[in-house]
Amino acid sequence: MMRLFLPIRVLTLPAAWLLLGAAPAAAQMYAPGSGDAVPPEQLYEVCAFCHGPGGQGSERLDAPALAGMEAWYVERQLHNFRDRVRGMHPEDLTGLQMSIVSGMARNDATIRALSEYIADMEPGAALETLNGEPVTTGRPYIWHSEYADFSSPEPGNAERGAQAYITCGVCHGPNGEGNEALASPRLTDLQDWYQARQLQYFRDGIRGRSAGDIFGAQMSAMSQTLTDQTIADLIAYIDTL
Ligand code: HEC
Ligand code: HEC
Repeated sequence: MMRLFLPIRVLTLPAAWLLLGAAPAAAQMYAPGSGDAVPPEQLYEVCAFCHGPGGQGSERLDAPALAGMEAWYVERQLHNFRDRVRGMHPEDLTGLQMSIVSGMARNDATIRALSEYIADMEPGAALETLNGEPVTTGRPYIWHSEYADFSSPEPGNAERGAQAYITCGVCHGPNGEGNEALASPRLTDLQDWYQARQLQYFRDGIRGRSAGDIFGAQMSAMSQTLTDQTIADLIAYIDTL
């Protein structure tokens, strides 16, 4: 497969401008402070470019599955990206893409409507591109970062992961179902590659350390002692839930 050897910094910005140019015309009509929401099904067309038409995610574009996420969690993340609380660390090349796009959700009402729309999506839709073609995991570009790929000394071991998960379960629930009262999202519908990256991001201070990121800070504190092997074990276990 042909690959473009371009750093993502170069590629991301023009790609995002193209996307913004392709935004539904309706987005222009809603002032940032207004209480009117852009119809979520219209705005989601832009999200689908990376997250898939059924919210199934795309490893190739580093965009996680959204189907299966709770509305309150999606809403918080969209605020965090828009308000530059998430996605601003210089090493956070994936978060930066999302941060740029999040400007399209111009007002809080739009963010809320979009979050509720996403929460209604059924997890597990087939992975396919917008043209209905099967998805490959090959990246259209190489991004130069230690976070572009994850590997652990040994393959993940679910039994060891179950032990390590005991602490996680206090917040995320014994079955990874999430707990809104503790602000902790569901983990069971997240793809392994996305989880691995987020756990590294939290551990290494790439996510969760910005001023104002109260919830990310909790998770960052919880991940300080994780080794790459423990991350792999945890993910192997979470996959069984
Ligand atoms: C240019 C590609 C792209 C587009 C378009 C895009 N996203 Fe994303 N999105 C990403 C990437 C990449 C990430 C992963 C960021 C990371 O690794 O931290 C992400 C992350 C997210 C997250 C955080 C998920 C989590 O588990 O914390 C949410 C929510 C989200 N996107 C919603 C949206 C919505 C809603 C839209 C449409 C308005 C959208 N995205 C458009 C690429 C995109
Ligand atoms: C003190 C409570 C707490 C504990 C314990 C905890 N987490 Fe979290 N976790 C959170 C919160 C809160 C968030 C949401 C952060 C945000 O809003 O950005 C989160 C986010 C995450 C995410 C990111 C989800 C996404 O969609 O991007 C993953 C993955 C995760 N936790 C896994 C774990 C694992 C694995 C453990 C055990 C090692 C763990 N957590 C322990 C509170 C906790």
